[in-house]
Amino acid sequence: MDNHFLWGGATASYQCEGAWNVDEKAESMWDHYLHQENLENGDVASDHYHRYEEDIRMMSEGGQNTYRFSLSWPRIIKNKEGEINLKGIEFYTKILDTCKKFNIEPFVTLYHWDLPQYWEEIGGWLNHDVCVAFAQYAKVCFEYFGDKISLWTTFNEPKWFVVNGYKIGNYPPGYQDTAKTMQAAYNVMYANSLAIEVFREGNYSGEIGIVHSYTPVNGVDDSIETKIAMRYADNYCNNWILDTAALGEFPIDLIAYLSKSYDISFMKPEELRKIKQYTVDFIGLNYYSRTLVKSYTEGETQLQFNHSGKKGESKVLIKNWFEQVKDPSNETTEWDTEIYPKGLQDGLVEAYKRYKLPLYVTENGIGVREDVSVDQINDEYRISFMNDHINAIFNAIDLGCDVRGYYVWSPFDLYSWKNGVEKRYGLVAVDFVDNQVRKPKASYYWFKKMIETNGALIKRKSY
Ligand code: BG6
Repeated sequence: MDNHFLWGGATASYQCEGAWNVDEKAESMWDHYLHQENLENGDVASDHYHRYEEDIRMMSEGGQNTYRFSLSWPRIIKNKEGEINLKGIEFYTKILDTCKKFNIEPFVTLYHWDLPQYWEEIGGWLNHDVCVAFAQYAKVCFEYFGDKISLWTTFNEPKWFVVNGYKIGNYPPGYQDTAKTMQAAYNVMYANSLAIEVFREGNYSGEIGIVHSYTPVNGVDDSIETKIAMRYADNYCNNWILDTAALGEFPIDLIAYLSKSYDISFMKPEELRKIKQYTVDFIGLNYYSRTLVKSYTEGETQLQFNHSGKKGESKVLIKNWFEQVKDPSNETTEWDTEIYPKGLQDGLVEAYKRYKLPLYVTENGIGVREDVSVDQINDEYRISFMNDHINAIFNAIDLGCDVRGYYVWSPFDLYSWKNGVEKRYGLVAVDFVDNQVRKPKASYYWFKKMIETNGALIKRKSY
């Protein structure tokens, strides 16, 4: 393994910081939505706002050399007028200085879903002004933190927050509306290009990319119907983000199809030129599983999400596009995520062939219910999951892919959006009930040893 390979963990501001209304932080759309719906929220989360030093020290002691985290827009910008909150700047400066102290390379996301509520109130991602505001916020971050950060990303997972927020309706703002989904998707990708333009024009050092919830698509057979379904699924899951961010173009067949039923006049030629011009330097891929599909022409569209942790609740059936099916021979988590490491190998090979850009695996992990009251949490399932996925990365590198880093989701337990804190991903347990005590799980020590031995610990297997 190359000595510069980045090994670390990833978090998101809303999911770990807590301190939701501290030091003049503005309300985010997630604060607002979860409070209003009276759902389990991230008001305290892992209290990283006050414990970041301990968390970063533990990452370093665990052999990790990088930390992927996001900046909270509502912590940094107080209002629509763009007033900067110096206390927010101070907080992230302390995080970055702590990373430096512990020889941890920061990998920073500008947007991991916590839109300021003052922007949501005037339309959020449906409002074009928010694209401009995002670029202005990005500029503030580049100016204040530019000398401390070499790896930036604009958005975390546009597919996930746009489709969940505007089509499925299980995330804020909770719409179930295809036209709105298209508009939000376009605006987010346009905002991505505006932030990259600011980065290039400002001559900031380092590189800028995007992070995508990557789910490589497989078909149930080789029939022509399945191949067509696979293309629809790939456009829906991956291409509108990756083609647009990396090649500067929305998939033409997707746009042609949608334009038959929807008004796409919001796609302005001058903006499409900007999207073409300002593309990413690298791609971050979050990998949890692949998508296995078959054709779906009868029956209605049904999109349902498993937030309960009871197997069998999720459904993705899009009329005339595709149906997501399960392979019964593979294990799934309680939240219906298929465990399929081969998909990571195949996906990296595919993404590298298509985009020819450096790749980082920016999230990978397994969410489970765990008893963290015991002295030593023996999370063998997580070790086995990580072994198999890191093996898949090694295989992809052997096949010629330029993969530069691996981030486990997550270095410590976090709040998991609508699933609350019972769905745990961390290498370090957080006692959310009793004083936020941190306790390394067996996987923490395994990951440390794996990094120290430069991957020699990985049980190799080829697919
Ligand atoms: C990714 C997100 O989609 O998956 C994270 O970037 C998220 O924010 C992670 O927490 C796991 O998903 P979940 O819903 O199980 O927390």
